Amino acid sequence: MKLIAYAVRPDEKAAFEKYSELLGLDITFVQGQLGMSNVDEAAGFEAVTFLGNCDASRPVLEKLQGHGVKYLASRSAGFNNVDMEAVKELGLRFSNATYSPSCVADFTVMLILMSIRNMKTMMKRLEAHDYSLPGLQGKEMHNLTFGVIGTGRIGANTARNLSGFGGRIIGFDLYENESLKDILEYVDLDTLLKEADVITLHAPLLDSTHHIINRENIAKTKQGVVIVNCARAELVDTDALIEGIESGHIGAAALDVFPNEIGIVHTDNRMRTYSNHQLAILERHKNVIVTPHTAFYTDQAVSDMVEVALRSLKSFVETNESPNEIK
Ligand SMILES: NC(=O)c1ccc[n+]([C@@H]2O[C@H](COP(=O)([O-])OP(=O)(O)OC[C@H]3O[C@@H](n4cnc5c(N)ncnc54)[C@H](O)[C@@H]3O)[C@@H](O)[C@H]2O)c1
Repeated sequence: MKLIAYAVRPDEKAAFEKYSELLGLDITFVQGQLGMSNVDEAAGFEAVTFLGNCDASRPVLEKLQGHGVKYLASRSAGFNNVDMEAVKELGLRFSNATYSPSCVADFTVMLILMSIRNMKTMMKRLEAHDYSLPGLQGKEMHNLTFGVIGTGRIGANTARNLSGFGGRIIGFDLYENESLKDILEYVDLDTLLKEADVITLHAPLLDSTHHIINRENIAKTKQGVVIVNCARAELVDTDALIEGIESGHIGAAALDVFPNEIGIVHTDNRMRTYSNHQLAILERHKNVIVTPHTAFYTDQAVSDMVEVALRSLKSFVETNESPNEIK
């Protein structure tokens, strides 16, 4: 079976080799991110895999369909880069990847700890041989209330990780996960905003979650609240977040995702000039940690992402079904 793989990073190659051999696949690799400039390379292929940083907008999908492509598998979990309406209208079939939720859940706990222990300031001081204490006093996890927005795979794992520290955990989701109820208390969004010392976001980007952390909701949060976003940038109104940080209301923020990150993250930008004013402001603040969309990036997750996408495409081609299809 033949397929084409876009945006393949060197660190994915070992998993591609392993699973293409195991599943009997003949894969053509394209290093560049899928987009209008290289979509024609998919001509003659029935199945395509790509990543969350690729352009799967309507014009690209129309081209893919015109080239005979039927099945698409993203190796990422989030699929807000895929125009799902166009997928359906064009009769394409699409699946996303599920992978070890521990990668993002562990990273989230690291960002929470770094935020409440002023780690950014500490590391900058250490570089300058400044070993002083003032300004570094932190908080203890067992004294805090953690608010988890979105208690799906990653949110649930984050809550389980946090439960080891002994604090209170409250959660908001449209659907309650019964298996979490021994460690997490479900509340409405307003209660979560009012009572959490740390708010961590794990909902997908949807119309209902777009700017769920906005000016009005930030005003409901506790003085000194910590906001952690390892989901998607647009869950937060970044201008309102910056206002909250600059007014001193928000105690700290840790963001693994930021607006207009595509083209900046996962790239060495040292030798080029780029424009992202919100990022420039966020990075300046001593109590804001920005990481380049790396929460997913572990050996286990990369292998899972490749395996799930390749198994999905094989299943689509052979049975016209995939357990990972998004309908
Ligand atoms: N930073 C990274 O590297 C990285 C990696 C993987 C995933 N992510 C992001 O994390 C998100 C969550 O991933 P997951 O695997 O846990 O997804 P999931 O589908 O298992 O869980 C999402 C949860 O959000 C809930 N939800 C949906 N709409 C909601 C709303 N309006 N209010 C409250 N909750 C709502 C759902 O009911 C579900 O329980 C992904 O969509 C992706 O955007 C980021």
